Amino acid sequence: MFTHPHAESLKYLKGFGNQFSSEALPGALPVGQNSPQKHALGLYAELLSGTAFTVPRAEARRTWLYRIKPSASHPCYQRLDRQIAGGEMGPITPNRLRWNAFDLPTQPTDFVDGLHVMASTASAEQVEGVSIYNYVANASMQRVFFNADGEWLIVPQLGRLRIVTELGLLEVEPQEIVVVPRGMKFSVQLLDDSARGYVCENHGSALRLPDLGPIGSNGLANTRDFQAPVAWFEERDEPTLLVQKFLGELWATQLDHSPFDVVGWHGNNVPYKYDLRRFNTIGTVSFDHPDPSIFTVLTAPGAVHGQANVDFVIFPPRWMVAENTFRPPWFHRNLMNEFMGLIDGAYDAKAEGFMPGGASLHNCMSAHGPDNATAEKAVAAPLQPHKIENTMAFMFETGKVLRPSQFALECPQLQPDYDACWTGMAKTFNREMPQ
Ligand code: FE2
Repeated sequence: MFTHPHAESLKYLKGFGNQFSSEALPGALPVGQNSPQKHALGLYAELLSGTAFTVPRAEARRTWLYRIKPSASHPCYQRLDRQIAGGEMGPITPNRLRWNAFDLPTQPTDFVDGLHVMASTASAEQVEGVSIYNYVANASMQRVFFNADGEWLIVPQLGRLRIVTELGLLEVEPQEIVVVPRGMKFSVQLLDDSARGYVCENHGSALRLPDLGPIGSNGLANTRDFQAPVAWFEERDEPTLLVQKFLGELWATQLDHSPFDVVGWHGNNVPYKYDLRRFNTIGTVSFDHPDPSIFTVLTAPGAVHGQANVDFVIFPPRWMVAENTFRPPWFHRNLMNEFMGLIDGAYDAKAEGFMPGGASLHNCMSAHGPDNATAEKAVAAPLQPHKIENTMAFMFETGKVLRPSQFALECPQLQPDYDACWTGMAKTFNREMPQ
């Protein structure tokens, strides 16, 4: 469908939150102004805003697009018969939940058809909140999609993706992530036979890098490791189906041209990718381990000062050297609500049952932590320096309770016995201090 350049020719612009400029043809970007009376190449100027015009300058996200046809040139949208699976929220439950990895499809399934809602904090018209999806796919999209309900953080777990966007091309593989701004048109092409992963839809303020406080001016995810596409366009006057998600529902319209017709653009409202293996992981070199906020890659602020609408947190390979310390994640009951996934390997708090492509949900005040086997082993372990390798777990952590979808509560991947990993814990209490 799309006439893409080869992967080796993909180029990226580096940095986070920059005001980028990119043109695929000289003259695509007007000089010194945004909206000339007559564009030098006959392109239409179009603004895509990610924030209200009036937010403080540091918050503002917008991009100017110079395109062959304006986005306004489309007939009316019709609601699709096939909607996203699991769109209905299930009954509220305080229980800890865990899912096995979702099966790969056997029928042709593109990225949009392969989406299913796992959990959501709020409907999309709320000013903050998140919705969480899993996806499975075995076919490239022969259509174009955009999401009016928020930006998307896509976490591939299996299969490489080529993501064609209005601003250019991005390729990601498992252990990389991509963020697509609200409203930006894109199409997901599969570079392998099948694909599986997770999506966090952020209904609130855009993701950004966390403040570093006493860590200083370097560390965690470094700005120059974020990559945005360069301008790329196709001039193709053929019917193209454009699907949008609006308040959770899929609607479609038929364009008479490819919407990937942006010849030049400038701004900071851009899709970007990041390789999680470049994360500068920081941990204790003395005793205890810091709160897992030390593993935050990206964060989006919420209404309560200091409490994120969503944090994207990873648990990458790292050295464990803490002395006289229970080294797995401690037992905890948190205010924040935690949806976890596993991209690769094993997670250090669970001996079994949490598999790559699987997921778990621990909502506000639900008690959890290492399972029995992990806790027993950790208490008995000789505390040598030890490297946790071949692992990449992540967490979407949000200040609002995540309601699992009907789909998530009824699918066969839901484990019926997750609680069992904490039952029968040995009572090791002893009233007498050892002499
Ligand atoms: Fe937790």
